[in-house]
This record gives sequence, structure tokens and C-alpha cells, in this order.
Amino acid sequence: MSAPSDRDVLSTRTIPRSYYEKLFKETDSLRKELETKNILDSCRGSILATIFMEPSTRTRLSFHYAMVKIGGEVIDFGPVEAASIAKGETFEDTIRMIDGYAPDVIVIRNKVPGSAKLAADICAAPVINGGDGSNEHPTQAMLDLYTMQKLRGTIDGAKVGLMGDLAHSRTTSSLSYALDKFDNVSIFYIAPSELQVRPEVVDSLSHVHVEKAETYVNVIRDLDFLYVTRLQRERFTEPREYERLKGSYQLDRSSLSKYSKLPFIMHPLPRVDELNPDLDALSIAKYFEQARNGMYVRAALLKRTISGQS
Ligand code: CP
Repeated sequence: MSAPSDRDVLSTRTIPRSYYEKLFKETDSLRKELETKNILDSCRGSILATIFMEPSTRTRLSFHYAMVKIGGEVIDFGPVEAASIAKGETFEDTIRMIDGYAPDVIVIRNKVPGSAKLAADICAAPVINGGDGSNEHPTQAMLDLYTMQKLRGTIDGAKVGLMGDLAHSRTTSSLSYALDKFDNVSIFYIAPSELQVRPEVVDSLSHVHVEKAETYVNVIRDLDFLYVTRLQRERFTEPREYERLKGSYQLDRSSLSKYSKLPFIMHPLPRVDELNPDLDALSIAKYFEQARNGMYVRAALLKRTISGQS
């Protein structure tokens, strides 16, 4: 067994501000290089193993594209139903096997909180958490911060509304921990009481100013960013509770038309019914740009992780 190392990316709780500053510089530099060259040589000869045991479009594909763009190769685990887990092989044995083939880096997603840390405890290769249940999604937070910095110039002083199913959300947990590393940031947790942020998340914040609200109505004028998340059907143990809360927060063009000043709208995607597509053409709608940024941020992260930079 190998201990988790500095090269593992498991949680934003422990990532200092200086790491983001270096990562975003690298992101901008790779992005510039990729404007003139389709495939770079930065990670030629390196292999990324992707293991997605929960559905994903953006995280899986942006890591895959990112690795190809920086010259590396990707070996994908494929659907979990096609693996020997379906015959009863354990998570630990599966991870040990994959690590034994000596990838240079592993990205893993699993529905069990703590599973990325468990994999990192087993693996010699650095492990990147691509989402572990409702716990964390650190690389999503990285691309969220990068997008905020691009849009506002600085994250310091930002007023960020996090709205939606905060109780089950790994994206807003990781983003909260990351925002806590910057100065004079305010987070407004906006959700019906049943979906409010988990106490463990707020309790671990030491630097940001925190407020809670049931709806965006009274706080939207104060925000620089309104970051919306979907109601996560797959995390509800009681389907009737999901049906009851469905549609309890929704944004569309007409609901926003009464405000003279609006924040940038962000969303980790996928969306379900909380962001009406009639918002997409507005200049404040940044969620697709946010997702595109993800590929560049993850390329920079892969390059730094493979080369052992922390
Ligand atoms: N934002 C995000 O994690 O999207 P996927 O679930 O499609 O990877």
C-alpha cells in the first residue's frame, strides 16, 4: 500500500491559493499554445487511466481531450457493467489491478464519498478525484475559480450565490472550500431548508463570510456570480421527497427581467429544469464557457501532476 501523496488531488480543503495561481498561469499558457498547435508534446509518452463508475459527460471527456491535447494517451475503464466488478470483484482489487499497469495518473469517479482517498491509499500513481458521491469534486472547483477569475479579474472580494440542491452537492462543497482561500469573499447559500448546505461544509470554512437565504429574490442584486446546481435525483433515498422538491427553484428570462443588475450565471452542468434554455443567449449566461474552460484547466492540472509540480 502506498500513502496518498502531494500529487493526489482529492479535496480543495487542503489546496492553497498559491496552487490555483500557478495552475491558472499554466492554463493560460497551454491555451495560448493550443491556439497555434492542435496537439502539444508536453506529456508525450504518458498514460492517463480514467475510471468512471458514475455517469459523466464533461469530467470524463474533458480529461480525455485534455490528455490527448497535451500529447498523452488515455486508457478508459469503460462502463462498470462491462468490468469484473459485475462478477463480484471489489473496488479495491479493481483499483490495485489498474494501478499495477503503471499509468502516470488516474482520474476516478465513484458514488461513495471517500472512494478517491481509498484509491489514493492503494495506488502508486497520483489519483485525481473526479467526484466522490456528494463529498467533493475538486477539479470542478478549479475550473469554476478559473472562470470567475477570467470574468471578474480577481476572486478576492467576490460575492457568490450558490443555489440549488446544496445538501447533496459535491461541486458547491469543493467550491466553498476553494473560495475560503481567497480574501473578502462572501458566499450566499440559497436553497429551501431541506436542500440547504451541509453543516460539515460551513463548519470547515474559516475565512469567507457566509449567509443563507431561501430564495435568490432578496440577494441577487448583491451578487457577482449566481452558481446554480440541479436537484440530484440519484442521491435521494426517498423518491417522493425528490418529486416534492422538484421545481422548487427555477430561473428563466422573465423571472430575471425585473432586475436592473444581474450576476454572471454559472452551473457545473448537467442542468435539468432549474435553468431555462431561454437564458442561454444572455451575455451573463456563462455555463457553457465554464465547461469549455474545464478542458484547459484539466490539461494544466494533468501536466503539473504528471511532472510532479505541486
Ligand atoms: N460537471 C460535471 O461534473 O459534469 P459531468 O457529471 O457530466 O462530468
